[in-house]
Amino acid sequence: MSRAEVDDLFAYLKRLPAIAQKTPQPELQFPFNQRPLLAVWRALYFTEGEYKPDTTQTAQWNRGAYLVNGLGHCAACHTPRNTLGGLKDKLNLSGATIPVLNWFAPALNNHPLHGLGKWTEDDIAQYLQTGMNRHAATYGPMSEVIAHSLQFASTADTKAMAVYLKSLPAQAPSEKESTGLGQRTLQPLMVRGANIYTNTCAECHGKQGEGKANQFPALAGNVNVIAPNPVNAIRMVLNGGFSPSTQGAPYPHGMPPYRVELSNNDIAAVVTYIRRSWGNNASGVASIEVDKQRGKQ
Ligand code: HEC
Ligand code: HEC
Repeated sequence: MSRAEVDDLFAYLKRLPAIAQKTPQPELQFPFNQRPLLAVWRALYFTEGEYKPDTTQTAQWNRGAYLVNGLGHCAACHTPRNTLGGLKDKLNLSGATIPVLNWFAPALNNHPLHGLGKWTEDDIAQYLQTGMNRHAATYGPMSEVIAHSLQFASTADTKAMAVYLKSLPAQAPSEKESTGLGQRTLQPLMVRGANIYTNTCAECHGKQGEGKANQFPALAGNVNVIAPNPVNAIRMVLNGGFSPSTQGAPYPHGMPPYRVELSNNDIAAVVTYIRRSWGNNASGVASIEVDKQRGKQ
């Protein structure tokens, strides 16, 4: 961050009224409760300094780069990490499963299938400000990012982030697909999945997975649906979801939960079906993967 903006933040914090409160006992487990280790981690992964504008790029691009890589903290979820938790810089914003939270955060570069290749700059800016656009509706940890933060960003700033993201070269997620179900397992799963889809899902997401602009996300060509890790789709079908209500989209539609109505086998079948229909070509999903998510919220 620039020194001037850090000073502004500090000035704001200093004006908040004081509150007397006992500091709670830390609940971090070993080894995270070892403070000296933080020095080691910082030596490895923290570089001090301010953002240096790239003079070959426009002011708008530089503003976007500054926000995405600084305050926006987008890499915290959208970039894969190594075993020590450090970000893999060479795979910046190429998509990753978020450790512990266990949601997949897709690529934010210009990849045509796995990234924002099909989105215009306006699509991206609209999504960041409202949680919704003609392609997608947000949920999970991204909906918190939008509800508590990005919806309050100025239109100039969300547009700048969009310009920067669109300039990032295509790079697919580095994660391997989790299962490789054989043709003999896949075929009956697809038949069963098609049935469930037609009866249960098509009224909102469309017969061809085309969705309905700004209401129900398309599942055909959806980066989360074809992600190497199927966890987002499994969790959405189990628990349903709501986008946040934002100034730009105050009354979002919801997705109902199906954990009672559908068995693990049913959900594996319908998720396999949406991952492998209408041009989508991702791996099938075994019912054990649904079982792993059923216990969590
Ligand atoms: C706390 C984790 C987290 C942070 C921080 C985060 N994201 Fe996300 N993001 C996700 C997850 C998980 C998804 C997938 C769920 C969804 O689509 O809503 C996602 C989805 C998205 C999508 C939709 C992609 C698509 O094709 O549907 C965009 C665009 C996006 N994020 C941009 C950003 C930007 C820009 C930032 C930084 C300002 C950011 N995210 C910060 C977790 C995060
Ligand atoms: C009543 C309308 C409705 C029905 C029925 C419905 N959905 Fe949804 N679905 C939604 C809405 C709205 C969202 C966006 C929710 C959000 O962003 O929190 C959504 C989101 C999703 C997502 C996440 C998409 C993404 O971008 O990652 C998947 C996957 C999904 N639905 C699959 C299904 C399947 C499979 C069924 C049938 C078992 C189904 N839905 C039934 C309305 C519906």
